[in-house]
Amino acid sequence: MNNDVANEIRNKVDIVDVIGQRIPLVKKGKNYWGVCPFHDDTNPSMSVSRDKQIYKCFSCGAAGNVFTFLMNYDHLEFRDVLSYLGDKVGIKVGNVKVSKKTTKYDKLYEANSLAVKYFQNNLSTTNGRKAREYLKKRGIDDKLIKKFEIGLSLPDRDDLTKLLTNKKYDISMLNDIGLSNDTHDMYVDRIMFPLKDINDRYVGFSGRIYYDADTSKYINTKESPIFIKGEMLYNYVSAREVAREKKQIIVMEGFMDVIRASSIGIDNVVALMGTAMTHEQIKLIRKLSNNIVLCLDGDDPGVNAMLKNGELLLQDGVEVKIIKLPHEDDPDTYIINNGRDSFINLLENAINFSDFKLSMMKKNVNFNSIEDKSKYINNVLREISKLDDSVRVEIMLKDIAKEYDLSYNTLEKQLLEYKDKKVVNTKIISKPRKVIKKDKYQKAVEQVLYFMLNNDWVINKSIRANLNYLDDKYRLLNAEIIYYYNNYGQISVADFYTYIQGRDEVIQVLNDILACDYNENVEEDELEEYFKVIKSQSKKKEIERLTTLIKNEYDPLKQAEIANKIMELRKGEQ
Ligand code: CTP
Ligand code: MN
Repeated sequence: MNNDVANEIRNKVDIVDVIGQRIPLVKKGKNYWGVCPFHDDTNPSMSVSRDKQIYKCFSCGAAGNVFTFLMNYDHLEFRDVLSYLGDKVGIKVGNVKVSKKTTKYDKLYEANSLAVKYFQNNLSTTNGRKAREYLKKRGIDDKLIKKFEIGLSLPDRDDLTKLLTNKKYDISMLNDIGLSNDTHDMYVDRIMFPLKDINDRYVGFSGRIYYDADTSKYINTKESPIFIKGEMLYNYVSAREVAREKKQIIVMEGFMDVIRASSIGIDNVVALMGTAMTHEQIKLIRKLSNNIVLCLDGDDPGVNAMLKNGELLLQDGVEVKIIKLPHEDDPDTYIINNGRDSFINLLENAINFSDFKLSMMKKNVNFNSIEDKSKYINNVLREISKLDDSVRVEIMLKDIAKEYDLSYNTLEKQLLEYKDKKVVNTKIISKPRKVIKKDKYQKAVEQVLYFMLNNDWVINKSIRANLNYLDDKYRLLNAEIIYYYNNYGQISVADFYTYIQGRDEVIQVLNDILACDYNENVEEDELEEYFKVIKSQSKKKEIERLTTLIKNEYDPLKQAEIANKIMELRKGEQ
């Protein structure tokens, strides 16, 4: 691997910017802090250092440089991260030699990707005339067809299955991924929309009928090893970059909605492919932006789903914005009938989830009944008690006091009661990091390695001291640091991460050492103390080893030899 190119790129980007675009960071002292995306948490336990260009989480121990962050966060491979960041800073990565990770599912993705090409081709042949007319009538032009890789399955029932089995794809595998049904094609005479996962791999299809027929509108790929419904979000990878630029992600129901939004230049959109939203999907959506707009269909199922999904997100600490479309519309029809400007206007005036919920709660209340009215106001207060923005809470309380002629104090008192209950019920207690008691030796080892990573002179001293570490993992890290230093003439933790990329055992021990978070600087005599501890421990272990050896040795000559060695070692002690 060409580390020089990688290091050049790394030097041109700022890890604080890159991470800050993905999760909110707050400056505290020298470092920036945010909620770690690599474990479930709500506390800001991840620090990002501008000086050192590394991040580390004090709760789960995740750590690394800008490359490892993007690899883990966006599920990218090293070379993809390199070319992504290279593009941003104008460095051509070219054919960097990094082997692509292969997975046991490669064949499955491959079969799907061949199917995409096959369906696409069908659409442009004479067989595709009717389907093309249908798409045209729906306002899906060639540009959109190409962008969303829309295709067509043929009426013949086994064309694709034959094509793929001829290419030596196993028929049982084709059944597993839902391309074939027994020995026939699964999709017959439907317009085909490829579905991709968060790594941009083809994992399935949705096929829509395009003529009058008494059959289901859509057929979707069933759950398979590569198609996990609960993690599926249509258009995820394409929306990712735009969502980060616009700092907003819009969530819709169907892929037709996504395609329509794209036709008016709105590309920061994903579709749930239905109305339900899983916890996994929420996590993925939040990775794109914490500014989420829900724009499901305007009908009752759509509205109910927005209420439910909005609540889930609120529990997760994000308040979404809502676009409520007219009852008869979905985003697709709304945009077709009302145009771009009208939809942009809705988007710009999207309302807060809690306001949306309150307006929905008000719908069937009989305000002539005292019971109904007080029940309603109590429900409203319960909702308000979930909010953190105290300015907004005060405004809302004042509005209610005015509207229903109640005293502000009464409302506030009641609100506080609901708030107390909330704290007990929902407060998340984050698990403290396991505290492991460390002995003097282990601490000395960790300190020395830690100082080596931060100071060139400590590496020099350590090389001369010729330390022998007892643990394999520490020995490994020590050797790698020294090797790196000898090659590059200096140490930089951020570049060191690039050097060890892909070698999990070195990364693991490096992360462990960095998590110790000792002071960076050390005085020479303190360092000598640690050296002494390490040396005496390895001597002790060596004496122990020799003592066992001598017990199992029957040759008196050899016994004497070992005994001599032990004496030599003891002499050096103290
Ligand atoms: N859906 C499905 N099967 C159905 C109906 C819907 O899988 N029988 C999924 C599809 O992913 C679809 C989404 O739910 O994109 C939203 O459904 P719907 O609103 O009915 O589809 P539209 O996007 O309006 O599709 P069209 O405009 O083509 O009717
Ligand atoms: Mn529709």
